[in-house]
Amino acid sequence: MVSVKLLTTLLTSTAAVAATATATAPDFKTLNVTVIGAHNNKSTLECWAIEPGFTESSQAGTAGSEVLNLGPVSGNASFSVLPAKFDGGRHNAPAMQWVIFLSGLAHITLPHSGKEAWIRGGKEGAILALDTAKVSGDGHITKYPSDEVTVAMQVPLQGNKVPGHQILHGGACKGEEVSL
Ligand SMILES: *[C@@H]1O[C@H](CO)[C@@H](O)[C@H](O)[C@H]1NC(C)=O
Ligand SMILES: *[C@@H]1O[C@H](CO)[C@@H](O)[C@H](O)[C@H]1NC(C)=O
Ligand SMILES: *[C@@H]1O[C@H](CO)[C@@H](O)[C@H](O)[C@H]1NC(C)=O
Repeated sequence: MVSVKLLTTLLTSTAAVAATATATAPDFKTLNVTVIGAHNNKSTLECWAIEPGFTESSQAGTAGSEVLNLGPVSGNASFSVLPAKFDGGRHNAPAMQWVIFLSGLAHITLPHSGKEAWIRGGKEGAILALDTAKVSGDGHITKYPSDEVTVAMQVPLQGNKVPGHQILHGGACKGEEVSL
């Protein structure tokens, strides 16, 4: 029974993929990401829409698909593997950087606000961490409460230049705002 349902789902999604491959109109306009920023020496959470949004790629290998420029990066990128239930404690972003969670679950809280963010690893796992010690006295707190290892890539921004964006609202992005 279950496998019949699964097969139907697979066939439906295969058909959807095939349809997408020939379609030209993008399904979504931009990428919305949760941002750990800072204001008045205190870390904040905001939801940003990255600008410019998706365009149709003309590069070999991805031609015709949707692509979004994340802006210039530099320095040493790193790949972290955090054990299940790891407590990252209170800290500042070591550099202004993209943090791309590939698995697991990160729970971000703030010392001076009740706002929080839950970031699940996967295709919707990219955030910007910008609260370096220079701009935030007390940083933020990150815990990894799941039973799975959390894998994260950290990619520093070039020249501390944040990507083009529009601030959608204060607080973390909501599930439907990041859904790809
Ligand atoms: C990158 O890492 C190397 C080796 O640890 C270090 O010498 C270098 O200064 C680092 N570069 C930056 C931009 O942090
Ligand atoms: C920022 O906050 C830290 C920790 O609360 C404090 O020690 C520091 O003096 C503050 N810096 C400014 C410029 O207010
Ligand atoms: C990002 O947010 C905008 C504004 O709320 C919304 O129109 C758009 O669909 C969102 N993008 C994604 C990928 O969900």
